[in-house]
Amino acid sequence: METKILNTATTDLTAAAELIKKGEVVAFPTETVYGLGADATNEKAVKKVFAAKNRPSDNPLIVTVANVEMVKRFVDEIPDVAQKLIDKFWPGSLTIIMNYRPGALSPIVTGGLKTVAFRLPKSEVTQQFITLADTPIVGPSANTSGKPSPTTAKHVLHDMDGKIAGIIDDGPTIVGVESTVIDITSSVPTILRPGAVTEEQLEKVIGEISSEHKKVGKDETPKAPGMKYRHYAPDMPVYMVNEKDWPKAIVFAQQQLEPVGIMAPDNVIEKNHLAGMDFVWSLGKDVTSANSKLFAGLRYFDDRNDVKTILVHHFEKEGVGLAYDNRLGKASSGQFFGTNS
Ligand code: TXA
Ligand code: MG
Repeated sequence: METKILNTATTDLTAAAELIKKGEVVAFPTETVYGLGADATNEKAVKKVFAAKNRPSDNPLIVTVANVEMVKRFVDEIPDVAQKLIDKFWPGSLTIIMNYRPGALSPIVTGGLKTVAFRLPKSEVTQQFITLADTPIVGPSANTSGKPSPTTAKHVLHDMDGKIAGIIDDGPTIVGVESTVIDITSSVPTILRPGAVTEEQLEKVIGEISSEHKKVGKDETPKAPGMKYRHYAPDMPVYMVNEKDWPKAIVFAQQQLEPVGIMAPDNVIEKNHLAGMDFVWSLGKDVTSANSKLFAGLRYFDDRNDVKTILVHHFEKEGVGLAYDNRLGKASSGQFFGTNS
């Protein structure tokens, strides 16, 4: 199949929406990463998403909506906690897991779970596209399973060319890491995946919450089924580097026969005289810019056949740094430079 590249003009969004209505798969931009869209009420269309991504069938999909009314098609009532989160954070980078009305969603979408994840993205293009399609759409990240999520239409094309009907190109995404996922069906609301909406922000609105690094209550922490799979991983080894270890890491890089990719913030690049070098990928000035440039950098080096190792700056694990650490931790299988390299 030919994968059409569409733009964000209304005529193209209408064409994209028509493809969705016909049961086809169209990749769409959000403020976090690009998603793979298909009509969430059409089982055949949803199956195509699993096939295009090569995604295990027990890994449930997010249902992406253009407004809260679309959520109400699947749930009897929106719980108070969810309503508070919706009022404060939607549209935005927060995915909320709720119970749905039995039978209201296909088990193919939910992986057979009694709960479902809803997301209302900030991007107006996304909202317009879903409104035109007139149906909630599933929206997993538009990468091949196991690879870094796509932050540009080019990344999507790299993984999906010939496998899906179209891609709506809205330029690079802003946030760069996927939404925060919160499960409000457990006795204490629980963050299953850290993202741009931080734990502190969430606690201000709904009180105490649990997360991987701060367990609350006796419940066994529920897991996002997707988190057990290998993730975000280039084909070569990736090591995290603490700020103080960069001088040693650069010596290591220079000693290798094959090029080593270096991903670091600008202050580290300047301090270590790496500016302008071909194998250096800037993460910008801080952890927020690093979130937006992380996946693109991993993909850049993954596609360069000459690079055999990647070294990536590790930031402090706080605020949006938790989202960064979560993604980089998976890409590197938790390995730090200097500990066992
Ligand atoms: O920012 C995002 O959330 C992007 C954009 C495209 O919207 N989407 C995204 O979807 O990251 P995906 O499928 O790549 O990640 C969704 C995560 C997976 O780890 C999945 O297992 C988990 O959410 N998830 C979905 N439904 C769930 C449920 N009912 N219970 C627990 N985890 C769930
Ligand atoms: Mg994903």
